Amino acid sequence: MSEPMSSTASTKVACVAGARPNFMKIKPVLDALEARGHEAHLIHTGQHYDAAMSDVFFDDLGLRKPDLHLNVGSGSHAEQTSKVMVAFEEYVNREQPDWTVVVGDVNSTLACALVGAKADCQVAHVEAGLRSRDWSMPEEVNRVVTDRVSDLLLAPSPDGVENLLAEGVHPSSIELVGNVMIDTLLANVDRAIQRPILDTLGVRKQQYCLLTLHRPSNVDDPAVLAGLLQAANVVAERLTVVFPAHPRTRQKLAGHEVHRNIVLAEPAGYLDFIAMQAGAKFVMSDSGGVQEETTALGVPCLTLRTTTERPITITQGTNQLVGVEPVDILVAVDGVFNSRAAARSPKLWDGAAGARVAEAIESFEGADDTIDITSTSKVGMAL
Ligand code: UD1
Ligand code: UDP
Repeated sequence: MSEPMSSTASTKVACVAGARPNFMKIKPVLDALEARGHEAHLIHTGQHYDAAMSDVFFDDLGLRKPDLHLNVGSGSHAEQTSKVMVAFEEYVNREQPDWTVVVGDVNSTLACALVGAKADCQVAHVEAGLRSRDWSMPEEVNRVVTDRVSDLLLAPSPDGVENLLAEGVHPSSIELVGNVMIDTLLANVDRAIQRPILDTLGVRKQQYCLLTLHRPSNVDDPAVLAGLLQAANVVAERLTVVFPAHPRTRQKLAGHEVHRNIVLAEPAGYLDFIAMQAGAKFVMSDSGGVQEETTALGVPCLTLRTTTERPITITQGTNQLVGVEPVDILVAVDGVFNSRAAARSPKLWDGAAGARVAEAIESFEGADDTIDITSTSKVGMAL
């Protein structure tokens, strides 16, 4: 941990990461805090633990070893969330950080935000305000509750700010900082596209589709998964489909037909996966982060969901919400073959969001916890 370098008083900050998409989001925040002389602790909850879901990101991103590993592993929502809470509370009691910074919308995010909120510690949520308005998604519960208990709400896009204001959050608690995941993308894309992964997979630029699936609503329901694979099998008649399967998904594939032109692979490392996205003709995915990265890369993305918490990737990016019905997916695939997308990154997706997070933490003067009663009538609509 570095010595104070700026004139601002050094602050002790717990930076939490636990699952695959957290590592790319925490890296620019950690770097910015340390560059400004703060004592940042990297806490890995252990929600994801396979080398391909965790270690590879430390190597690819140059993320330093965690200062603390909570080793919680997998479990039901309650088991996983509570294990993170118990272990993180011990750390908070011992180290008494001034701030807890959580990113994204996974169970580790919610667990550490709850612990921080009940301790003498301020909580900042990076990626605040995103809403799918689909309460069947565990992530939506995590987002809404994390935002409600956090002191400082750092939104990636104006829709996030609008959602928070509509829920009655005081404007002094909200800051539009931009997208930290795009900081990491911009810092690594040149290096990533030099990787030989397309040769290794036996595919050529613009001549394959990249597929990822891991939302429980898509992969845990055999009928929905069968429909998605049916669509992928039809796409595979036209061009190769590269499918690095998340462990949740891999466990569910047995018994389903997978076309011989689908290259089923292990979860990819970050640099390889960025190269796979950048070279794809189009991407089909139910991922949150992939909607953002394809937008920044200018690669068409067909999101295999009926809702998105990232509408800006549709209005200002390359994303289309196509649902999960094979017929709808295949109509959208035809559309992609007949059109071109261009990179058009939303404002503040500029590589400097991590620095703005650090500045917002430094200049924060305290939360106004009152919810605006006149806005609460809108909460029903907003949620
Ligand atoms: C979690 C997040 C989701 C995020 C995704 C990113 C929650 C509620 N969900 O979903 O928002 O989009 O991570 O990838 O926090 N497993 C392994 N090895 C691992 C990790 C998981 O085999 O390293 C398997 C286990 O069988 C586990 C299952 O995957 O039960 C699901 O893992 P879990 O972290 O509970 O949820 P994800 O589906 O990964
Ligand atoms: N990613 C990766 N390898 C893969 C799939 C995804 O490195 O095989 C990266 C991707 O580039 C993005 C992040 O993981 O940075 C997205 O994570 P994921 O899709 O697991 O979660 P979500 O964003 O949906 O929460």
